[in-house]
Amino acid sequence: MRPLVVSAKKAPIAVLISGRGSNFEALHRATRDGRLPAEIVLVLSNVPSASGIGRARSLGLATAVVPSRGAGSRTAHEARVRQEIERAGAEWICLAGYMRLLGADFVAAFENRILNIHPSLLPSFPGLDVQQAALDYGVRVSGCTVHLVDAGLDTGPIVDQRVVRVRSSDTAGSLAARILREEHRLYAEALRRLLVEEWRIEGRRVLFGPPSATSAASKRE
Ligand code: GRF
Repeated sequence: MRPLVVSAKKAPIAVLISGRGSNFEALHRATRDGRLPAEIVLVLSNVPSASGIGRARSLGLATAVVPSRGAGSRTAHEARVRQEIERAGAEWICLAGYMRLLGADFVAAFENRILNIHPSLLPSFPGLDVQQAALDYGVRVSGCTVHLVDAGLDTGPIVDQRVVRVRSSDTAGSLAARILREEHRLYAEALRRLLVEEWRIEGRRVLFGPPSATSAASKRE
C-alpha cells in the first residue's frame, strides 16, 4: 500500500530583489529543508544584472526581470511587477534587497502580505548605508528587522527583530556581515510565524496568538 502523504498547503511567495539575493537564497533553503511552509513561485528583479536572478535561474525557479530604469512612471513599472506576481499566483511578497519604494496602490493590493528585511533595529536607521550610520552614531547594538510593508520608507509594523552587538573593531562591512547572518535566519522565522500562527495588528503592533490568549497574557504582565 502506498504511504499516505499529508502535505500541508504551501504558501506561494514572490521574492523581489535588486542585487545579490542572499536573503532570497536563505528563504529558498528554508522552503527546501522544511523550516518554511512556502514555495517560491517567482523571483523578480528590477535590475537586469542582479546576480540573484542568475542564482534563481540556476536553482530552476521561475524568474522575471522588470527593469525600472527607463520604465516610465513608477505606476507603470509597478503595474508590470504586479502582473508578473499575479501571473505566478503569489500570495505573499518578500522584498529582499529590493531597492524601490512601493506605491500606496501596490501596497493596498497586497495588504499585510508584503514583508521587508532591513539591516538595522528599526525605527533606528531606516534607508541606505545604515551600518555606517549606526557606527557613526555610536550605538552598541544594531541588528535586523522584518516588517510588514506600508507605503513609507521602512515604516511598516515590525514582525520580529534580532540584535547584533557592535564591536570596537567593526567597520561597516564587518557589521553588515554579522547582521546579514542573522537576517538569513530571521526572515524565514518571521515569515513562518505569519504563515502558521494566528496574528493580528493592533495599532503598530503585530500580535501573535488568539486575541483571548494575548489579552490574558497581557493582564498577567
Ligand atoms: C540586506 O542587508 C537587506 O537587509 C537589505 O538589503 C540587503 C540585501 O542583501 N534590504 P541580499 O541581496 O539579500 O544579499
